[in-house]
Amino acid sequence: MLRALHHPLAEHILTHLRDRTTKPATFRSLAYQLTVMLAIDATHDLPTEAKAIDTPLEPMTGRVLAHPPIVVVAILRAGVAMVQPFMDTFPDVSVGYVGLERDHVTAVARNYYCKLPPLPGKRIFVVDPMLATGGSAVQALTVVKQHGGADPRLVCIVAAPEGAAEVQRHHPDTSIHVAVLDRALNERKYILPGLGDFGDRLYGT
Ligand code: PRP
Ligand code: URA
Repeated sequence: MLRALHHPLAEHILTHLRDRTTKPATFRSLAYQLTVMLAIDATHDLPTEAKAIDTPLEPMTGRVLAHPPIVVVAILRAGVAMVQPFMDTFPDVSVGYVGLERDHVTAVARNYYCKLPPLPGKRIFVVDPMLATGGSAVQALTVVKQHGGADPRLVCIVAAPEGAAEVQRHHPDTSIHVAVLDRALNERKYILPGLGDFGDRLYGT
């Protein structure tokens, strides 16, 4: 299942993110805002439980978030941009990191780091702004499952159809939440129209 954001504000933010003249400081802040929207969308079915409270006027029973707590697993390095918005939006978030880097010639991702909190019983969101060939996301989802994580969701800002199909081939039960599904990959495996190299634009490298 792939779910894209359909909201005028998401389109507005995406256009500025894509614009090559957008500077890293603005780029970071736009990525933050868009990730908050994605985090809310990707958690639309979180369980809630009843809680009795008193408003200033009368007693009532509201609803609050129930267990399980959320784990965000960020794919280094660009996925780091998506961690803080999750932590600022939800009350109980722990964070893991999987380090993956694409080879510039082959576009195949190499795993160089892994640090994960306990995953069993948690609601897990793997975050990476770009889903291109899908190689990085497939590896990260596999690592999460090897560490006992059940039913991880994938949250990305821009996806290529090729990457979404690759994730669905290897992890058919994984829901993919994106801000936008773009047209295709180019010959260097960059997303078109895309926004370029997210990590470079985020960190000014
Ligand atoms: C980028 C991006 C994804 C990956 C997507 O990271 O952040 O992790 O490419 O490509 P794929 O779907 O073809 O695997 P990159 O490897 O450039 O590393 P970086 O985050 O350190 O810049
Ligand atoms: N990684 C990026 O940062 N951008 C792309 O278009 C593809 C992979």
